[in-house]
Amino acid sequence: MRSQLIVPSKRSPATPAPHRLYGGRAAAGPAPSLAELNRSLPVDQRLWREDIEGSRAWVQALCRAGVVTADEARALDGGLEQVAERLEEEGFEGRPDEDIHTLVERLLYETVGDVAGKLHTGRSRNDQVATDARLWALRACARIDAELVGLCDALLVQAEAHVDVLMPSYTHLRRAQPVRLAHWLLAHFWALHRDRRRLAGALERVAVLPLGSGAIAGSGFPVDRTLLKELLAFREVSENSLDAVSDRDWVCEIVFVAAMIGAHLSRLAEDLIVFSSEEFGFVTLPDAYTTGSSLMPQKRNPDGLELARGIAARLLGDLTAAVGLLKGLPSGYNKDLQEDKRLLFSAVDALAALLPVTRETVAALEFDVALLNDAAEDEALLATDLADTLVRRGVPFRESHHAVGRLLRAAEAAGLPIVELPDAAWAEAHPAFLTGGRPRLSAFDSVEARGVAGGTGRAAVLAQLAAAKRSLAPLS
Ligand code: ARG
Repeated sequence: MRSQLIVPSKRSPATPAPHRLYGGRAAAGPAPSLAELNRSLPVDQRLWREDIEGSRAWVQALCRAGVVTADEARALDGGLEQVAERLEEEGFEGRPDEDIHTLVERLLYETVGDVAGKLHTGRSRNDQVATDARLWALRACARIDAELVGLCDALLVQAEAHVDVLMPSYTHLRRAQPVRLAHWLLAHFWALHRDRRRLAGALERVAVLPLGSGAIAGSGFPVDRTLLKELLAFREVSENSLDAVSDRDWVCEIVFVAAMIGAHLSRLAEDLIVFSSEEFGFVTLPDAYTTGSSLMPQKRNPDGLELARGIAARLLGDLTAAVGLLKGLPSGYNKDLQEDKRLLFSAVDALAALLPVTRETVAALEFDVALLNDAAEDEALLATDLADTLVRRGVPFRESHHAVGRLLRAAEAAGLPIVELPDAAWAEAHPAFLTGGRPRLSAFDSVEARGVAGGTGRAAVLAQLAAAKRSLAPLS
């Protein structure tokens, strides 16, 4: 075993000799072209902390199993700590190693000598890399969740400040019914809240420890996997070694949640792009969150929001690639799976870049309250309320719907708003319009009429706000 490993003497990171984890079987090393393709260090170097933590836990388990002595365990543990310090200080530039596991082992040899050769007993890079990546994902997703909380909080603060501002809502991007501005803001809040729940659900399945699964059939040494689970703060130990080393459904889940968050951010972004346009003018994007044009001096472009839309496309591509990696893959570890980390990192990085900008943009939005209230009074937005009024006077809804349609057509033909049509025109549309007096048209009455839970009435929106606040408590 030991003889297969080329142990370099102390060298600077710029000119290290190659350290290989295998080499007895093949007559020569891989061709340079294959070595280059196969090499994952540029991507998986980000797992270095987790790799060292996993190895330190493994040392404890090997010691308990009687595979290494207490002295050897101390030497290995101290050596791994020093390797961590070195990587922290020196970084990764010029490292020739195949992957992070090879690099850590090489540096461990440099630090503690031959005893380093005992570390990989009963372990494979297959269970090692799955453990590292899961650990990394658990931490990265906690950071993403914190960013989501930040954005949700920014939406909540804006909602609280705008309970009594009305605005038009849209279906098909055509004016529909008045709503409270808080209601529109909270609609985006709840979508992101569900994403947090999805992320928490996915993390339950990520927190399953693969270490101890060996290459495929389980470790050949009686390591205490419960001890490993506790040392590394996983929730469970995997039930099947073959499954543990070969599945990446958990990567797909995280990338799916990321793609969903991307889709939600892109919808918020699109609303804001439209609402902040010259045509709408509902909201002003803070200067710091717009960019100029190299040619047109007047431009204040919503680039951050446009990138939210664009990055959502990239996340969707990552999701397709993640599921594609698993489709039709034979059981057991296959090198295809090395691509999983690129996708995981790409998804997490995209959100890490996007969420802070979106949060800051939302926090700094300035709404044109007068314009919004005014737009909400557009009588076309109140057509449904007119129909509802007739229903309250005993007219079946379908008939009242047609009656309002006739009234709107009459107003259009006369070139007048409906409130200015004479009584005769109202009576012609439907006699019930006049029994009990001509209906009063007001956006405020319209939102208040929807006092149903989840509706736009003031009390309902305040209850919604309270529920939103409660939901911001940290997810376990
Ligand atoms: N760099 C590899 C990966 O990311 C580590 C596992 C290699 N395993 C193997 N059997 N070659 O998947």
